[in-house]
Amino acid sequence: MGITYNFDEILDRTKERSKTWDFRTLKPGQVPMHGAETHFTCPQPVLDAVRKVSECQIYGYPYFTDDFSNAAAGWMKRRHDWDVKPEWVEFVNGIVPGIAFAIQAMTSVGDKVIINTPAYSPFRGCIENNDRRISTSPLKIDMETGVVEFDWEDMEKKFSDPMATAFILCDPQNPTGKCCTMEELKKIEALSQKYNVFVIIDEVHADFVFEGAKHIPYPSVGEYAKNHSALTMNPSKTFNVAGFRTGAIIVPGDDARARINRRIAAVKGISRTITGVAAFEACYDGSCDDYADQAKAYVAELREMLCSFFEENIPSIKILKPQSSFVCWADCSALGFESQKEMMDFFANDAEVLMGNGVEYDEELGKGFIRIAYAFPKTMLMDALQKLKAAVDKRKGE
Ligand SMILES: Cc1ncc(COP(=O)(O)O)c(C=O)c1O
Repeated sequence: MGITYNFDEILDRTKERSKTWDFRTLKPGQVPMHGAETHFTCPQPVLDAVRKVSECQIYGYPYFTDDFSNAAAGWMKRRHDWDVKPEWVEFVNGIVPGIAFAIQAMTSVGDKVIINTPAYSPFRGCIENNDRRISTSPLKIDMETGVVEFDWEDMEKKFSDPMATAFILCDPQNPTGKCCTMEELKKIEALSQKYNVFVIIDEVHADFVFEGAKHIPYPSVGEYAKNHSALTMNPSKTFNVAGFRTGAIIVPGDDARARINRRIAAVKGISRTITGVAAFEACYDGSCDDYADQAKAYVAELREMLCSFFEENIPSIKILKPQSSFVCWADCSALGFESQKEMMDFFANDAEVLMGNGVEYDEELGKGFIRIAYAFPKTMLMDALQKLKAAVDKRKGE
């Protein structure tokens, strides 16, 4: 595919309030590879839609239309071949708020919610802050072959616990980039049915699935899955619009939807913003599909660059080549640091690259690991990797 968008452009981030590019703490020269977002400008239709709203010069109470749900449903059909009825779609402020509503509606205080580890850390807060308990089922990660699998024996053990009433399925998975197959999703459906465990899906990385893998929305795999799940989506990653805090939850089952929507309705303060809705609709209404295709193609090239760079130049850091997403899980234990802190300090200060700290994804499994977010303009990524190589070589005395 020809890439016509200028993803090579290095943007000036100093005028934003970017959490990743936080110049209050970022030291000169440091490259922030810890934030899971792209460093590409938004697609033009999104910029236009937001500008149109902001140009009004008055921002009174808004009305909203079915365009929001239609855009989400249309996107799911076009991009992921799933037939979604617009009435299944509800606004939420993002993936984690959507998961929180599903937990509140579909489980009780004291229940256990299952997650696979290593895990995106806000899942933990979302479970515990809702007075539920975390149940972890570690993924089996083979760093040599790059294969990431569920431990089905352990999954069955965790699902069969009578206190376990929900499972958060992060597909594609952060931080490993694992993308579930139909066979795996069917197994999850069977476990969910056998043990009456509701499935809550996080699909935020679904638009970056690379050759050889395919994203399948879990509720589309069968009738039971459809009626006993809730799926959260957000254009935040694909189009770099996380700041709008505007996502959606899709709940096909009538009973689950009534329960979840009641929780949403109970929180009066949760309401859409005119800019967020304008951005969401522009992302998903079809006018940005070519951007999504090209962003994925560009990230796929970055993934190849990243993996071959490590293989050829920094073999002491072992990369798990991701099947999807622009984050990648990396084993740095061969660098021989005495503690995780010492290792993270080395990346931040010697290599001048900020990395995601592995222990935030799992205290045990994450020791010696980092998560690298790599959706940068190519020259910027290469510069950061060169700095990392120089620091590693220096440490090894080469
Ligand atoms: C797996 C996963 N879920 C959710 C989020 C955040 O979602 P949102 O953009 O809705 O805040 C992230 C962001 O890093 C993520 O990696």
